[in-house]
Amino acid sequence: MKVLVTGGCGFIGTNFVRLMLKSHPDWSIVNLDKLTYAGNRLNLLDLEENEPRYQFVHGDICDRDLVMDLLDGGRIDAVVNFAAESHVDRSINDPSPFVVTNVNGAQNLMECARQRKIGRFVHVSTDEVYGTLGPSGKFTETTPLAPNSPYSASKAGADLLARAYFETYGFPVLVTRCSNNYGPYQFPEKLIPLMYLNAKAGKSLPVYGDGLNVRDWIYVDDHCRGVELTLTKGREGSVYNFGGNAEETNIFVVRTLLSILDRPESLITYVKDRPGHDKRYAMDFSLARKELGFAPTLNFSEGLARTVAWYEANGTWLEQVQSGEYRNFMDTWYEERSK
Ligand code: NAD
Ligand code: TYD
Repeated sequence: MKVLVTGGCGFIGTNFVRLMLKSHPDWSIVNLDKLTYAGNRLNLLDLEENEPRYQFVHGDICDRDLVMDLLDGGRIDAVVNFAAESHVDRSINDPSPFVVTNVNGAQNLMECARQRKIGRFVHVSTDEVYGTLGPSGKFTETTPLAPNSPYSASKAGADLLARAYFETYGFPVLVTRCSNNYGPYQFPEKLIPLMYLNAKAGKSLPVYGDGLNVRDWIYVDDHCRGVELTLTKGREGSVYNFGGNAEETNIFVVRTLLSILDRPESLITYVKDRPGHDKRYAMDFSLARKELGFAPTLNFSEGLARTVAWYEANGTWLEQVQSGEYRNFMDTWYEERSK
């Protein structure tokens, strides 16, 4: 199978490309990535140099001519759309790029794929489209969409367009909604790599609000397997939830990380909460278990130990990705939170 992966130089895309080329000797992958602050071409440079089944294309999913060209002449059988602006805090700071890429870009991809009669389109979405949970219950695929951040609203917009493309045109789209990922190559603006970086540097660890918000953590390879199963076995027009069966409070995650790194809890600083901060996410993935045979394979402590080991071995990667743009956003955002 010839797959167009978008956003393959980001966190989940990088892990997906690596895993799929390893598990499927008969697959080839074209990776279309705009290389925003969160995209790093070096993540897959070894494949670019040594793997003939991998091709990198620098470009934007909003660029109609480019996407039409990539999908021309039977060169691609399926599309997997990871490309997105993905960080909630940045979406609070400036929603505009989120609407451009996550809504307009996703629609452009679907429209080009529809016109080129692409046989399969997986749109990668998030549990955040469902909004927030109280102390009990889990999100199912029929939970109403109630996004609370500009990020999740833009993802929900694309999910609804995917639904409309299936209902209106019979377009063979499938949507995945997954909980919080962690693992190698995650950009150090997200909770786990950010706290790792600060702890290593002896800097304070900024926990939002009371630290009791809950996320359902999934190791990135487990999510990638879910996307793979959706692509190879899913029912067209369906939505599949994926989760890690690992609900943890933020403060537990931060304390566990400090304990692995043998750093003092005095580094923890409670800061002003994120506006519109969702309290709790938890995924019911029984549909994916039943229809796709999906189950997460790593528990949180195994996954976290593996993740920390990767960051320990890849200090230069962490240095490389902290560009000027990264530092500008982080400095202003956290200065504001600590007032
Ligand atoms: P990321 O921010 O690490 O990577 C996003 C990638 O998309 C980057 O390589 C970036 O350069 C690229 N990109 C951005 N705009 C683009 C554009 N207009 N055209 C082409 N490429 C563009 O994100 P991630 O954490 O790897 O998330 C990947 C996908 O998975 C996103 O759609 C996200 O909403 C979804 N998701 C993420 C999580 C999570 O916990 N990280 C959970 C559920 C779903
Ligand atoms: P994040 O990694 O940004 O993912 P998401 O907002 O998509 O769930 O944040 C995970 C949780 O950690 C979320 O409840 C917000 C919290 N958090 C902090 O407490 N401090 C931080 O510096 C960051 C980045 C996140």
